[in-house]
Amino acid sequence: MATTVITNISSLVTNDPSLGEGPLGTIRDAAVVIDGDRVAWVGTSSKAPATDNRVDAGGRAALPGFVDSHSHLVFAGDRTAEFNARMSGRSYSAGGIRTTVAATRAATDEALDANVRRYVHEALRQGTTVLETKSGYGLTVEDEARALRIAGAHTDEVTYLGAHIVPPDYADDPAAYVDLVTGPMLDACAPHARWVDVFCEQGAFDGDQARTILTAGAARGLTPRVHANQLSYGPGVQLAVELGAASADHCTHLTDADVDALANGTTVATLLPGAEFSTRAQWPDARRLLDAGATVALSTDCNPGSSFTSSMPFCIALAVRDMGMTPDEAVWSATAGGAAALRRTDVGRIAPGARADLALLDAPSHVHLAYRPGVPLVSAVWRAGVQEV
Ligand code: NIG
Ligand code: FE
Repeated sequence: MATTVITNISSLVTNDPSLGEGPLGTIRDAAVVIDGDRVAWVGTSSKAPATDNRVDAGGRAALPGFVDSHSHLVFAGDRTAEFNARMSGRSYSAGGIRTTVAATRAATDEALDANVRRYVHEALRQGTTVLETKSGYGLTVEDEARALRIAGAHTDEVTYLGAHIVPPDYADDPAAYVDLVTGPMLDACAPHARWVDVFCEQGAFDGDQARTILTAGAARGLTPRVHANQLSYGPGVQLAVELGAASADHCTHLTDADVDALANGTTVATLLPGAEFSTRAQWPDARRLLDAGATVALSTDCNPGSSFTSSMPFCIALAVRDMGMTPDEAVWSATAGGAAALRRTDVGRIAPGARADLALLDAPSHVHLAYRPGVPLVSAVWRAGVQEV
């Protein structure tokens, strides 16, 4: 396997405090050696070993590739009209999901696959090297299974979200839909997914239904993650912690008991500021969660309704400006935090043995991701040792 050294990195975020300064383990004037798909060595440029290939980073900063642990990319159509109406004063309602369900059911496999490919690549250009994505716009046995098969061609982090909303065809009998989601649909979907998710919210699934669905998924080897407390207070967060879910996502409306549960449990709190931005909702309070001791991840929630962005740098900028995070905290949450939310130890850090996923920034440090919002700073990306951008 060929080795490559990237030298002359002005500031390298390793996310390993034993390798550098501060909680991000930052190394000044750094170098990284890549051997095959792994990081073989990190340190200061002057001590870098000789290798087959040499890349001069030209004084740019580097950090681990972003880990976007929450997206909904298997969809067709878009919801420009709904966005326009919202920006004219209408409020967000999860009912818009039905518009995307209809378009997705009508789309060919090829069209859905092309869409996922497009957004995964769009995310990669912005530094995302690991991306989770969900079903949830099919809501029939066949359409959910096909969404997961298509997602699985683009990422290993695939989530079964048959319980996104109760589809119109089951509006009169939601219990029958829960039976479908935990029965034939689970049978068809479990082989294609790693995770099971539920939208636990008024107008979607209540706490009892969510518990039934997550427990059934877990019995089939899928680890739970939960859309929790997005639009209102509710049971989602505490249910997630109780069931040992990998992540409770959104966490916008939290009681003190919800915050305590997250701080004392193993469930990561994944915040999705693109959703609050695009729905003009109140910001999740990252500061409150961090001060309580919770582990916080940041993700895009990329979907055509509530958050049509694939940009982790944008989410970092929002989290710093509006959610009380420092730039260091936001960068950690978008890399190591996302890895924790996906229970991955091979990504989200740049250290010997880790997968060689890294982004170079046209900037002297990672702080510029928040300091220079909206500027495309990601200038090169390696994923599993291969330079993709
Ligand atoms: O995470 N909350 C539920 N699901 C998505 C919204 C999906 C949609 O509006 O299409 C979310 O925000
Ligand atoms: Fe979501």
